[in-house]
Amino acid sequence: MTDGREGPLVVTIDGPAGSGKSTTAKEVARRLGFRHLDSGALYRAMTVAVMRADIPEGEWDTLDREALSQFEVELAPTEEGFLVLVRGKDPGEDLRSVETTRLAPFLARNRWVRQNLTEFQRSALSFGDLVVDGRDMGTIVFPNAGLKVFLTASLEERSRRRLLQEGKPLDEKSIRQEALRISKRDETDTDRAVAPLKKPMDALEIDTTDLSFETQVVRIVAVALALTREATEK
Ligand code: C5P
Repeated sequence: MTDGREGPLVVTIDGPAGSGKSTTAKEVARRLGFRHLDSGALYRAMTVAVMRADIPEGEWDTLDREALSQFEVELAPTEEGFLVLVRGKDPGEDLRSVETTRLAPFLARNRWVRQNLTEFQRSALSFGDLVVDGRDMGTIVFPNAGLKVFLTASLEERSRRRLLQEGKPLDEKSIRQEALRISKRDETDTDRAVAPLKKPMDALEIDTTDLSFETQVVRIVAVALALTREATEK
């Protein structure tokens, strides 16, 4: 598909933790027939690799390009998207573990990590049209994307969704605790010096607090299709 620009069409979906970016991006990609790239999975894979190498957290900020090359994080294309590999293998449950989730933002503030993973993300373009989700997709990695979306939802709703996703109870205490974990992650992602989480200036912002999953997906797909139609009619 093309929107009149040179090369593949990119739809970026950024937003804070628990805003539903990845599930939304995956479904939008499926309906558009694009590949989906979950950039968070790359940051998680790099975190798993560093944890497995027993590098103390206090040294993560000092890891440089050369040090990172030993971790062998790769992106392997699949039919619908990409699989992240650590030393040639699927990292399995470690990718989404509580520890990886908590620690990933600390590795993600290292500029060499970001540079390395940004190159990976851009290389995914060689496989064609993409829907990508993350924190800096529209601002840094794909600043010329055809469509940029910024998803938000209230902190309480994001906590509720995260707990639901993990099959955990939805009582008030659990929601409060999850909200605390999510806001800590958001804070680290927003306050970092390199590629902080922020809404791209030209992004379509969608507050999904009171929207169904179907409604938000349909809205994004409709805008993407209108964009490509407009371009082909020119
Ligand atoms: O999206 P997900 O929760 O899987 O991301 C895990 C972590 O990876 C985030 O908390 C963030 O620190 C980092 N990340 C990032 N930039 C991206 C995607 C993820 O810094 N584009």
